[in-house]
Amino acid sequence: MTDPTSEPTQPDEKATAPAETERTAYDGSDVLVDAKGVKVHFPIKRGVIFDKTIGHVYAVDGVDLQIRRGETYGLVGESGCGKSTLGRAILNLEPPTDGSVVFDGVDIATLKGEELRKKRQDIQMVFQDPLSSLDPRQSVESLLFEGMKAHGIAKNAKEARPRLVELLNAVGLPEAALAKYPHEFSGGQRQRIGIARALSVNPKLIVADEPVSALDVSVQAQVINLLEDLQDEFGLTYLVVAHDLAVVRHISDRIGVMYLGALAEEAEADDLYAAPLHPYTRALMSAVPVPDPVIEDRREQILLTGDLPSPSHPPTGCRFHTRCPWRQETKCDTERPVLRVPEIPGVGQSHRVACHWTEQIEAGEITPHEVAPQATDLSDLLDGDASLMGPASISEAL
Ligand SMILES: Nc1ncnc2c1ncn2[C@@H]1O[C@H](COP(=O)(O)OP(=O)(O)OP(=O)(O)O)[C@@H](O)[C@H]1O
Ligand code: SF4
Ligand SMILES: [Mg+2]
Repeated sequence: MTDPTSEPTQPDEKATAPAETERTAYDGSDVLVDAKGVKVHFPIKRGVIFDKTIGHVYAVDGVDLQIRRGETYGLVGESGCGKSTLGRAILNLEPPTDGSVVFDGVDIATLKGEELRKKRQDIQMVFQDPLSSLDPRQSVESLLFEGMKAHGIAKNAKEARPRLVELLNAVGLPEAALAKYPHEFSGGQRQRIGIARALSVNPKLIVADEPVSALDVSVQAQVINLLEDLQDEFGLTYLVVAHDLAVVRHISDRIGVMYLGALAEEAEADDLYAAPLHPYTRALMSAVPVPDPVIEDRREQILLTGDLPSPSHPPTGCRFHTRCPWRQETKCDTERPVLRVPEIPGVGQSHRVACHWTEQIEAGEITPHEVAPQATDLSDLLDGDASLMGPASISEAL
């Protein structure tokens, strides 16, 4: 038996070897973020006197991804699949358990103190809920000036003022907003302030975690358009995390689809929507209504059965095998598929899929079948943190 207090190990070595890239699709010449084999495992602790580690939540479990300068990388997946944790690991706010993140040529895990603080200036976050991420006791002027002062961009508010006015203009707010407090704004305006705050320190990368999910639908498009305009104006690179496929599609150049801590598929946005290849992505896309009534009538929905497995007990082999309608008797539950460029005519080098049977599924040699729901093992979560469980269904998650 394995010792549950030891370093996080995979439940099945062969089945859960780190997700590696077999053939890299891009030469990497203009990469801003290079994440390799990133894992973030949270210990599950129990005990009154001694905190005993009884297991781990494999929130991020072997992710390789690159973000190129000036692009928008969209990360999508069900609630609890590890999107935010991966975003935080890229910022080193959640130091990876394993793997590396090289930002602008520097491995950020090697930085400490002042060096790390300086590097953080280059990576800023925009959060889902602008109200809770903006201190209600600070005026907009103070909120925007704070970071500039901390990073030595301006010494005092007077010196900073022209830049603050410029920032507000950039996000579509008047100068008068400087004297106001967060509660005096609408949700959309607050998110604009959050974006201005991120911009105030001249970052290279903005990690936007569900930037519009707390906003009314009518305001969502305005904020998305604003992010796009600012990208051109300030030469920004974005990592946009969202569970809404429509938001990600609109804004992203490339998209990564996450399932239980790993990338299931990655492709240029148009390619992913036109021809999803991984069974999980096929299911996600099949749930999105198409505006054309003829295509909509013909659209076949792939319904996923069974609960999203607990990230503390990820399935062996392919993480998706417990819910996959294309699951095969060989490989699927014993060997973890690597993210690779499939050998399918017309599929470009930037399209990567983590499925053993991509080519056979695409050729129609393997057809979907019924999936018997499997119980999720929640033994270590009983009387524990219910938030560690995934949503009951894909429609609940998305
Ligand atoms: N600090 C933590 N300690 C323990 N477990 C955590 C911690 N942070 C996240 N987790 C767990 O890691 C898993 C991934 O969480 P994460 O917040 O990254 O998911 P997500 O994809 O961003 O979900 P959502 O769409 O709901 O925001 C979840 O099971 C979550 O409960
Ligand atoms: S066919 Fe097998 S490898 Fe491919 S997604 Fe389904 S379970 Fe995973
Ligand atoms: Mg999240």
